[in-house]
Amino acid sequence: MATTNPVPRFPAGFLWGVSTSAHQIEGAADERQPSVWDVFTAEPGRVRDGSTAAVACDHVHRHREDVALLAGLGVDAYRFSVSWPRVRAEGGLDFYDRLVDDLCAAGVRPVPTLFHWDLPAGLDWLERSTAERFAQYAARVAGRLGDRVTKWITLNEPAEHTLLGHALGVHAPGRKLLFDALPAAHHQLLAHGLAVRALRAAGADDIGIANSHGPTWPASEDEADVAAAGFHDLLLNRLFADPLLLGRYPEGIGELLPGDVAADLEVIAEPLDWYGINYYAPTRVGAPLGAETDVGGVRIPAGLPFSVREVEGYPVTDFGWPVVPEALTELLTAFRARYGDRLPPVVITENGCAYDGLDDRDRIAYLDGHIRALHRALEAGVDVRGYFVWSLMDNFEWAEGYARRFGLVHVDFGTLRRTPKASYEWFRQLLRDQRA
Ligand code: NOJ
Repeated sequence: MATTNPVPRFPAGFLWGVSTSAHQIEGAADERQPSVWDVFTAEPGRVRDGSTAAVACDHVHRHREDVALLAGLGVDAYRFSVSWPRVRAEGGLDFYDRLVDDLCAAGVRPVPTLFHWDLPAGLDWLERSTAERFAQYAARVAGRLGDRVTKWITLNEPAEHTLLGHALGVHAPGRKLLFDALPAAHHQLLAHGLAVRALRAAGADDIGIANSHGPTWPASEDEADVAAAGFHDLLLNRLFADPLLLGRYPEGIGELLPGDVAADLEVIAEPLDWYGINYYAPTRVGAPLGAETDVGGVRIPAGLPFSVREVEGYPVTDFGWPVVPEALTELLTAFRARYGDRLPPVVITENGCAYDGLDDRDRIAYLDGHIRALHRALEAGVDVRGYFVWSLMDNFEWAEGYARRFGLVHVDFGTLRRTPKASYEWFRQLLRDQRA
């Protein structure tokens, strides 16, 4: 499916990278404090294959090998996350200190995310104080790494962490609060704004966030389906982008949130240097069906004002997610139209797919299609500055355990041996061609 046409050239200075997250790759769980994910995965039935991330890719002990893989790939940048529970442990920042040193020595720019879902056990996003603690932690990390790290990401996908972790209960901390989960979203956004201030106070001037976004397509042109899709778009896209970029919540949401929301919005809307988008697939949404739906591994209970339907007519990944590169162009041009000059430069902080095998032609086709779609967005006037593949290597895919392989590098979870896949070679060549 991947064509032999060269991918069009991106502007000079465009940032090419790959992403991972701490809980999904690090292992060395006994060298840090527990997180809500350790508590969650210890409960039977939470993870499809019954696995935990106690060892994962054992990256903490093998990071030199992984930095060599990054250098071999030739990426400009590596997006990883800092584990707050590790930073809280004695000497926990030492690991990140070494990792950052090794990345810099290999010529790979470190781009840490400060929160990628592994909240220290005992903390709770329903509590406002978690936002304040997060800012203190951000200041600590910046104090230690800020002499070498210049590009920062505050949060990863607060939308998914709220929806899957607090509303539907399929991720840690496993709460099924439905709309009562909204304070967890607000406190994460507040944490983001406070952390932006803390990072700026530490001298940082290149700060973004990584939000999950995707187009929501109505199941039909019927008014009820269009309204349901509009509501889903509000929850997935506007609930997080509007406060950050416009300084206000979408209609009807602010009243459901705790605290002095107007004052908090001033913090949340601290100007960003760039806006990170994690994009995987569009969602088709219709009016409620009066029954639970299960699409792409996520069960949406009956009783919500929408239902999620299959996106038909496209190939799907091993996860069942539809492969629709043009929806990335659609998403970005719609963002530009919605937010205009309030939208800072965009970086695609995650894009990728789950497929098995070392000869992963389907992954190559997926990435090739999405990178071309990204170029079309650039041509349409969206200021896109970077693209990060999810993920450098196969890892612990949350409630799916090790069954979903998103890596450019295969990991044998028995021996922990890393083997570059065909997609690794393909991406390496793409980076060379871009620089030729
Ligand atoms: C987004 C999340 O940030 C990442 O942790 C996850 O592995 C990928 N999506 C794939 O589901």
